[in-house]
Amino acid sequence: MNKARTPRPIERNIAMELVRVTEAAALAAARYMGMGDKDLVDQAAVDAMRTILNHIRMDGVVVIGEGEKDQAPMLYIGESVGDGAGLQVDVAVDPVDGTRLLSRGLPGAISAVALSARGTINCPRQFVYMNKIVVGREARSVIDINASVADNLNNIARAKKRKIPEITVVVLDRPRHEQLLADIREAGARVKLISDGDVAASIQAALPDSGVDVLMGIGGTPEGVLSAAAIRCIGGEIQGKAWPRDEQERRAAASTGIDVDRVYTAADLVKGNDMFFAATGVSSGELLQGVRYYTGGARTQSLAMRSLSGTVRWIESIHDFKRLHKLRFLD
Ligand code: FBP
Repeated sequence: MNKARTPRPIERNIAMELVRVTEAAALAAARYMGMGDKDLVDQAAVDAMRTILNHIRMDGVVVIGEGEKDQAPMLYIGESVGDGAGLQVDVAVDPVDGTRLLSRGLPGAISAVALSARGTINCPRQFVYMNKIVVGREARSVIDINASVADNLNNIARAKKRKIPEITVVVLDRPRHEQLLADIREAGARVKLISDGDVAASIQAALPDSGVDVLMGIGGTPEGVLSAAAIRCIGGEIQGKAWPRDEQERRAAASTGIDVDRVYTAADLVKGNDMFFAATGVSSGELLQGVRYYTGGARTQSLAMRSLSGTVRWIESIHDFKRLHKLRFLD
């Protein structure tokens, strides 16, 4: 006799729902590409992102957002998002990473969201910047942010079974990276400079065969945490260390109990084992195509990932403006 089987509940992969959030932000912000106004692109993305986030069945709290309540009218740290029912989660948002890129009409701006169980996203926001090193799976156990650039590059090249001139290091183009660039060149690796957007660059460094092997250098701390969520899904590693801009910031961080010499790994920044990440291209870059308009609509490209399964999805969508306007998702 056949035993009746209880069907397993269909798993809910919230990354698929988060894609709608980053798509909406990208579609809203992309309209202002090249107009020279950073605030305009940010506001458009924030408004759209918030609307769609509030349609998701979850009891979410923004842990990385646009700042504290008084400076940011929406998506501020501590704001409740979602419909209030179901899962209790932390939500980290970057409505547009690369607002400068987008406002100037340059490639590489993305919209990104990460989500994980309540209390698991740890953003050491006492310091604005973090020194980071990011690699993919093959080199995850050989990096050490406290070691020299040459040692790290040698170890990464060995782990990837390549020669150093076949290793590409992505670095934010900033005066603070003069010594880092000199060290990378001295070691003989290839350099790829980006003017902004180290979340997309970190994802590239973590993905296999993206043409980028490692990200090095100082970027935003919240961007480091969002990157950590993506990296935990992909399976690489990030190491981050506080980079206080001056003695005052160092002392202020230390006075709140922060150890400025601590090395944060991906698992320190986003704990637990079930996190979700989604991103959509706003202006076309190497990782994701930006919003491409056609008569009556637009096309977007997104990434959706989940750490539990390790599945990374590239999602191409077409958006019909007429129907979306009727649904009030686009104004
Ligand atoms: P915004 O889009 O918020 O301006 O961030 C862009 C960015 O390039 C991040 O990707 C990066 O982490 C950070 O700025 C670097 O900061 P700074 O421009 O101050 O060096």
